[in-house]
Amino acid sequence: MNIDEELIKKNLRGIILAGGKGTRLEPLTRIMNKHLVRVGNYPMIEYPLQTLIKMGIKDILVISGVHHIGQIMDYLGSGKQHGAEFTYRVQDEAGGIAQALALAEDWAQEKKVAVILGDNIFLQDFKEDALRFVKGNDGTMLFLKEVMHPQRFGVATVQGNKITEIIEKPTEPKTNLAVTGLYLYDAAVFNRIKPLKPSLRGELEITDVNMSYVKEGKTTYKIINQWIDAGTFPSLEEAERQVREYNK
Ligand code: G1P
Repeated sequence: MNIDEELIKKNLRGIILAGGKGTRLEPLTRIMNKHLVRVGNYPMIEYPLQTLIKMGIKDILVISGVHHIGQIMDYLGSGKQHGAEFTYRVQDEAGGIAQALALAEDWAQEKKVAVILGDNIFLQDFKEDALRFVKGNDGTMLFLKEVMHPQRFGVATVQGNKITEIIEKPTEPKTNLAVTGLYLYDAAVFNRIKPLKPSLRGELEITDVNMSYVKEGKTTYKIINQWIDAGTFPSLEEAERQVREYNK
């Protein structure tokens, strides 16, 4: 293991958020967890897992709902096969991405974390970004992607190398830069979740966490050119297409 790999292994922990009911993929998700639905030759969750593994992360926490965590554990196991260690935690009720993330506080042991949504498929390698983040002083590093319908996502406005604003699902987006579901955070992220109040959809919003960093000028970003959130039927088909193209 070289020095950089050692740095990531010691200082960055990974968190996969695999909660939610998957209602947008009914009836596939009536019995099966959304994150186990097939994309290419793998269950969906294999992709975010590989994104973290390719960064060089060895400690990974998987958070899911009480009815689904068993299926996910059956599939992923201990982590031995991946040369990693997996830990599992149950999110009792669906209270949003930030609420799920809060469950990781003790496990994270004051280290920096790479958080990824279980239905987000990234095919590129983020090792260099992870290394830069671990070595640097940024509070958070976000990954933005130009999209056709930004209304469905958190939408960022940028200036220079900083994000100046993020609005969750704006009706009139100011840019077409969607905030993707991969977030690198410093250890202060858990304290930033504590004062949050539920949004109109009754969730603790990850956009509010990100905005707390934005307001202090502590957010850096990178624009990427491939990403797909596979949580709906059309995006699941698009994910399938991108994965096949990538594997050609
Ligand atoms: C969530 C976030 C949103 C982000 C998106 C990425 O949306 O709230 O900011 O752009 O994930 O997939 P949700 O899937 O909860 O609607």
